Amino acid sequence: MRRKLAAGNWKMNGLSTDMGEVAALPTGLGVDVLICPPATLIDRMVRDPDTFVQVGGQDCHPNPNGAHTGDISAQMVADAGASHVILGHSERRQDHGETDALVRSKIEAAWSVSLVAVLCIGETEAQYQAGETLDVLRTQLAGSLPDGAAPGNLVIAYEPVWAIGTGLVPTMAEIESVHGFIRAELATRFGTDTADGIRLLYGGSVKPSNADEIFAVPDVDGALVGGASLKAADFGAIMMALDAAAKAISV
Ligand code: PGA
Repeated sequence: MRRKLAAGNWKMNGLSTDMGEVAALPTGLGVDVLICPPATLIDRMVRDPDTFVQVGGQDCHPNPNGAHTGDISAQMVADAGASHVILGHSERRQDHGETDALVRSKIEAAWSVSLVAVLCIGETEAQYQAGETLDVLRTQLAGSLPDGAAPGNLVIAYEPVWAIGTGLVPTMAEIESVHGFIRAELATRFGTDTADGIRLLYGGSVKPSNADEIFAVPDVDGALVGGASLKAADFGAIMMALDAAAKAISV
């Protein structure tokens, strides 16, 4: 049984004064909780005695060190105390021209220091309109996933680019079919046991108001949440919806 995961992606948001939002999250739920703050807050969040969450980075450089001003290596993310790192987010693909090959080398770097990679994949609006979603996802998975993917080192987030920060969400039937497709692709390459263990998150405009519906979709093992992860009231409500979905499955 895959344990559910509520992951928050703070993006370029969050100062030391926002740490209270994490401390205010509900505790004692039967789901994993991961917060990926800006790199400046990783160490602080890891050390904060009031937080119980796992902490992740939002990116890493493929090299362990070197002359790359402004970049952070996987080793540094791990050294700061993070357990996970988001890689291949569409905002990095768009803002920084990240390719599948680069994302693949970043995942290898993350794995070399035992970070769990949270790989983001998803189609643009134009690709969605053209009916190219599954082709895009197949290409992204093939190009960005190294050999050796396993439930312990990989989480995949399906994030349609057009759903991120827009309030738009695919239909539940679309999410179900895409997640089923991703799991089938993983099974073809890595075998059924591995594919069955890897958690698939949905991301893109997840909110307290749509969380129940999304978490009821088969093959959705949690969410990667941007805007609604910044406030404890919203993210806490999403965590509780996920906990309820997990309990509904286990009875
Ligand atoms: P959103 O972002 O929840 O604000 O749409 C999701 C993401 O980009 O991970």
